[in-house]
Amino acid sequence: MTTALPVLDCPHYTADRCRSCTWLERPYDDQLAAKQASTQAALRAVLGDRQEPDWLPPVPSAPAGFRTKAKMVVGGTVDQPTLGLWRPPQGFVDIRDCALHTAGIQAALPVLAAFVTRAALAPYDVPTRSGELKHLLVTESPAGELMVRWVLRSTEGEARVRKHLPWLLDALPTLRVVTLNLQPAHAAVLEGERELVLTEQATLPMEVNGLTLHLGPRSFFQTNTDVAATLYRTARAWVDELGPATVHDLYCGVGGFALHLAAPGRTVTGIEISADAVAAADRGRIDAGQSAEQVRFVAGDAASYLLEDRADLVVVNPPRRGLGDELASRLEDAGPDWLLYSSCHPTSLASDLEVMRSYAPVRAQVLDMFPQTAHLEVLLLATRSQRNE
Ligand SMILES: C[S@@+](CC[C@H](N)C(=O)[O-])C[C@H]1O[C@@H](n2cnc3c(N)ncnc32)[C@H](O)[C@@H]1O
Repeated sequence: MTTALPVLDCPHYTADRCRSCTWLERPYDDQLAAKQASTQAALRAVLGDRQEPDWLPPVPSAPAGFRTKAKMVVGGTVDQPTLGLWRPPQGFVDIRDCALHTAGIQAALPVLAAFVTRAALAPYDVPTRSGELKHLLVTESPAGELMVRWVLRSTEGEARVRKHLPWLLDALPTLRVVTLNLQPAHAAVLEGERELVLTEQATLPMEVNGLTLHLGPRSFFQTNTDVAATLYRTARAWVDELGPATVHDLYCGVGGFALHLAAPGRTVTGIEISADAVAAADRGRIDAGQSAEQVRFVAGDAASYLLEDRADLVVVNPPRRGLGDELASRLEDAGPDWLLYSSCHPTSLASDLEVMRSYAPVRAQVLDMFPQTAHLEVLLLATRSQRNE
């Protein structure tokens, strides 16, 4: 475990410009211990007479430079755009040098700010509802390549973005994917439904543990790629120990768990609501040399997941809200012997475990995907089989 790391020195926090890192004043080893304790407490509250899992030591993260995705609110003016937050009553706050982002993102943001001026993209002004550019979303792959998405109110600036795109691609040689996302509503919504891809390449290859996951503009990817790599390796090790012949991966996204869990003699089915993510996951399967009989991805709602095609083990990695009563009840009624639950919200994990009373936790580990905040990821293995350890 990482100990005695200095507390991150952030000028924006000190000046009270940004308080997103709610645990910034807490030494890092305290943060890890507190995350472990709060997760244990959340589960204990619902386990009843079920045994506690074996808790493995929490997985630390680099305390800074770990965020591979930047979500910046754009404010200010065309000539002096701010990249950061909308924080009333202060208004727009510029945190383009935020130390949580990877070095590649930190280096790219000033160039992207210069592009705002060059392409005359008027930042959206929340109080007056004027302007066009709302957010700037940047992702960096482990290979140092970038995806940039401009979230705009309308296509008003499209021609200017296209005109100046060669300049941007020249100024940022690692830039691979550029898109416009259209978000017309006056609402605190990060992005809209429509995406215009402006580059030849539409997805960013994210190499994780020797596998290539193809990330499309609107698909989910874990924010801390290093810790995500540990998460997928840990899942693979735990699953390989059990050796299931059939695995279902619900909420599979672009295939992180499913592609890691593929193995000779094992079939894996991934289920995901986003058709784009399913297509990307299938591309990852082809790159990994796995056959469509061995690994398949299906677009659909995990909540209506049918259990006819029985699995030996199910992996679930739902959004923050958790599985919900409907799916948790289905799993409780007819789920497989083994459940591997990856959760970013221990409270919803605990509610789901309350419904899935016949699953006994076996092993659990907290992974620190989000240093400097109370957020975390937890991986939990549970079983309803008599093989329970
Ligand atoms: C926390 S992400 C996990 C993605 C993936 N397991 C990974 O490691 O990157 C949750 C995923 O669930 C998907 N999703 C949300 N609601 C869903 C639903 N009702 N049915 C299936 N997938 C859903 C989202 O699109 C997103 O890809």
